[in-house]
Amino acid sequence: MAKNKTNFVCQNCGYSTAKWLGRCPECGGWETFCEEPVIDGQAKNIRTFSKEKIKPKNIIDVAQSKVERMVTGIREFDRVLGGGIVPGSLILLGGTPGIGKSTILLDVGLRFGQKRVKTLYVSGEESEEQTAMRAVRLGGGSNDLLIMTATDLDIILDQAKAVNPKLLIIDSIQTMYNAELATAAGSVGQVRECTAKLLQFAKATGVAVLLIGHVTKDGNIAGPRLLEHMVDVVLQFEGDRSYSFRILRALKNRFGSTNESGIFSMEAGGLKEVSNPAGLFLEDRDSAAAGSIIGACMEGNRPIMVEFQALVAKTPYGMPRRTAVGFDYNRVNMLLAILERRHGMDFGVYDAYVNVVGGIKITEPAADLAVAAALVSSFRNRPVAKEILVFGEVGLTGEVRRVNAPEKRITDGINLGFNKFIIPDGSFPLKKDKNIEIIKVKTLNHALQAIFEQ
Ligand code: TYD
Ligand code: MG
Repeated sequence: MAKNKTNFVCQNCGYSTAKWLGRCPECGGWETFCEEPVIDGQAKNIRTFSKEKIKPKNIIDVAQSKVERMVTGIREFDRVLGGGIVPGSLILLGGTPGIGKSTILLDVGLRFGQKRVKTLYVSGEESEEQTAMRAVRLGGGSNDLLIMTATDLDIILDQAKAVNPKLLIIDSIQTMYNAELATAAGSVGQVRECTAKLLQFAKATGVAVLLIGHVTKDGNIAGPRLLEHMVDVVLQFEGDRSYSFRILRALKNRFGSTNESGIFSMEAGGLKEVSNPAGLFLEDRDSAAAGSIIGACMEGNRPIMVEFQALVAKTPYGMPRRTAVGFDYNRVNMLLAILERRHGMDFGVYDAYVNVVGGIKITEPAADLAVAAALVSSFRNRPVAKEILVFGEVGLTGEVRRVNAPEKRITDGINLGFNKFIIPDGSFPLKKDKNIEIIKVKTLNHALQAIFEQ
């Protein structure tokens, strides 16, 4: 029996307390607490595994029983999952509104339907007509894909049991509600309870459940991080809505690696896979202009070549401006300081702007050398030859440090027509080709000499 007890739960982070607080001690948010009833017994005793499975087993026997994955046929999606969807798993797909979450999961449903793998797609956001219209855009329907518009989780689970699909898609977890709770759909309590029920359903029936979750402004899925602990896989769909490319990443994966990423492009007929992304961001480069250079970066396990641009211009104000788009602002400041201190370039009266072309965000330090070279190229007004490709981390003493996967970066660079590579010294011996020049550098100074040939 539900007792008449309530708790106060932070709507940001899920922190719960018996008393109302003005400020959350966990996330620091102000006036984030809402009252939520506590259901005794039920929520705590959720059993996620069927009884007969709870028995110690020999590890060798367990390891030998293979998991049969359900392959979606969208290679970029399967790759991120580690080879397909594991039956009975609970997968959360997060992303900002309009990024393409509903599109990709409906596509998964359609492909499963065509393969006669029964799928139930439940939308709490769009009508059945809207979902069907989207399916037409994506290339038609199938008898084995069932769609339903509903938000009451009990009804959904009853229907799911009756239909008995292999895959259940819930779009989105924030629109679902559990009638036992008095709070509105989307509140932390509702999201948590609904996820717990779906988890129980997935583990008890072996049906794989895919949840869509909206992310908050600061990029957290559904606010409470609790969700991420409950599910088996957390996928994040990223991209800039002004550009067509989308990147799917695994933030957590109990069945595979979190290094892989899937790259798509959003087109009129839905999301298309980009299986060879290396040259995706290299269109329309004006190689005669100073302040531009190509860096070899890694997206997951695959290299992508990215154009870094810098503009160094005399500041009209007393305080020089520094901005960075697509690259860490603090690292730009650090690189400027290294160039000032170790290379005698005085940026004190110059504004410095750094931009990564194509709307992609580069977080790896391996791009340091490219950013530094772009800044120097603009500062000295000297263009960089178009066949040059660089990568390497720059340390505070001006040393160029080794980065991962040098061979992959170079191989893909060669395929794209680059023939002069400025790379960190100590990158293991790479196979020699007389048409390819590989210059290994120890310091930024050495790298700049090689790039600008002085
Ligand atoms: P959607 O999947 O509804 O996003 P989410 O569920 O993450 O909120 O995608 C919406 C966007 O995708 C919308 O702006 C239109 C675009 N889109 C296409 O460009 N092509 C298509 O075939 C489809 C279905 C959507
Ligand atoms: Mg949607």
